[in-house]
Amino acid sequence: MFVRTVSKRDLKAVQALLAETWHATYDAIYGEARVGEIIVEWHSMAALEERLEAPLSEFLVADDGTAIGGVAYATAIDEGKTVMLHQLYVRPDSQGRGIGGLLLDEIEGCFPDADKVRLEVEEANTKAVAFYLAEGFAKVGRTASCGRPDSGIPADIYERPIMWAD
Ligand SMILES: CC(C)(COP(=O)(O)OP(=O)(O)OC[C@H]1O[C@@H](n2cnc3c(N)ncnc32)[C@H](O)[C@@H]1OP(=O)(O)O)[C@@H](O)C(=O)NCCC(=O)NCCS
Repeated sequence: MFVRTVSKRDLKAVQALLAETWHATYDAIYGEARVGEIIVEWHSMAALEERLEAPLSEFLVADDGTAIGGVAYATAIDEGKTVMLHQLYVRPDSQGRGIGGLLLDEIEGCFPDADKVRLEVEEANTKAVAFYLAEGFAKVGRTASCGRPDSGIPADIYERPIMWAD
């Protein structure tokens, strides 16, 4: 499995991975219909294409040469000091094999001016919370609107410091 930047030809596979993983992760929390609506709105081809051009951003996939196993998207905020990890999704049948940790470390390394990584995670998504705690994150706050300013989906905010080797 190697990590590389997303290109336009990957977007259909990325869209399918996000749809499969979102339903597997969130149907039990938000309901299948609401998850279906969010997928259509947030992961349209136009929305994914925008990420390819977004400034101060990184859009990565984990690829085993035949299929994409995971995807991560992050932007730099706070004048480059904070990496905002917007999405980290590993296909259900590929979870627990180190892909999430690999993508997390790779995306962090793409922002050499940053001193911390921040993300928002649904409190009821206990598997993801366990993963982030194991990866050295700690809860620092809460948001009323995860993902976008008008989502109305509450979530916890987690951060971990970036330790750059000298
Ligand atoms: C959360 C997620 C990104 C983690 O990726 P992953 O590839 O499954 O995780 P990894 O195999 O890289 O795990 C790294 C470490 O996290 C820990 N970990 C992972 N899943 C865990 C779990 N369910 N419970 C406890 N610890 C866990 C392990 O300690 C593991 O370390 P190890 O390799 O030494 O055992 C992935 O499971 C996923 O996509 N889940 C569904 C979507 C989601 O919730 N995304 C996050 C939204 S905010």
